[in-house]
Amino acid sequence: MLEGHNCPYCGSQMDPIRTPMESSWGGELHHICFNDDCSYFTRSWKALERQGIRKTGYRCRMDPRGGCGPVPVWSKDALKDLVACEQGDEMDSASCFGKSALARDDDTPDGDFYARPRFVEHLDSCALDTVEQLYGRLIPAGSAILDLMAGPDSHLGRVTSPVSVTGLGLNESELKANPVMSEHVIQDLNSDPTLPFDDNSFDIVVNTVSVDYLTLPLEVFREVSRVLKPEGLFIVVFSNRMFPPKAVNIWKESTEKQRVEVVRRFFTLSGRFAIQGYYESTGKPRPEEDKYYGQGIPSDPIYAVWGKPTGKAAGCMH
Ligand SMILES: C[S@@+](CC[C@H](N)C(=O)[O-])C[C@H]1O[C@@H](n2cnc3c(N)ncnc32)[C@H](O)[C@@H]1O
Repeated sequence: MLEGHNCPYCGSQMDPIRTPMESSWGGELHHICFNDDCSYFTRSWKALERQGIRKTGYRCRMDPRGGCGPVPVWSKDALKDLVACEQGDEMDSASCFGKSALARDDDTPDGDFYARPRFVEHLDSCALDTVEQLYGRLIPAGSAILDLMAGPDSHLGRVTSPVSVTGLGLNESELKANPVMSEHVIQDLNSDPTLPFDDNSFDIVVNTVSVDYLTLPLEVFREVSRVLKPEGLFIVVFSNRMFPPKAVNIWKESTEKQRVEVVRRFFTLSGRFAIQGYYESTGKPRPEEDKYYGQGIPSDPIYAVWGKPTGKAAGCMH
């Protein structure tokens, strides 16, 4: 159970919220009084209204180190999306992050957008090499691998003797051209996040530079946990390139560092993973022979977060 606190102003139970990414509050959990009738809130709301500042007020926030302070809210619902849930609860992605955070500019079926094959490298050569090295280091020899949201390259060149590589993506020609794939499935995860595989089918699931397109991340992460063997790993690799119309708002509106936190939250809020590691490679020089060399900026950054399945509901905090 999450520890309870009562509001010193109205006595009602305060809700635990996880420290927002952009705040400097410190600590993991804070408590906020969301009672709209609490005098602390109503007085500030009315006082600001008198000054011409509408729909804004202060709620009472309890700091984990003790003591109360005001937290500004710009609507009666603001910050409610950060309320941490009890263990065992399972929130869907929209309730956890808010619908607009997971919306994107182009909401037409993804199958249409990806109908045309894109035989392009999504990263520069240095970054591609970094991804291969990372997979080579993290993926044990003889693994059964699922490449989720796959294209023509699975970046598994340094992985020793995988027993199988299964791909799930949206473009048949791209997947057919993938030289390491033993089988593939076409499926739009944003319209059906249920993976068409049995429980405990894979040692490793990788997702490379694609997590930003998931509109149902928690549902997909839970499915990944189901199809992974108990000692398996889900490795999510990402960079800073994207097809903006198809990337979800939370991704586009976050800085690179915040995106790491977003992916960590996909793992932890799914309630089915324990994060095992984090990797970052930034600021490497771009090789002269690279086709992106003319852009004159460092090589594409690579970030990765990986986690081990924990079975059902290991905790469901935001
Ligand atoms: C930037 S590409 C990355 C491809 C590959 N993972 C790589 O590393 O080169 C994004 C991939 O995500 C896949 N994808 C995008 N939206 C998807 C969806 N809704 N369901 C399944 N796959 C999707 C596309 O098929 C595309 O291959």
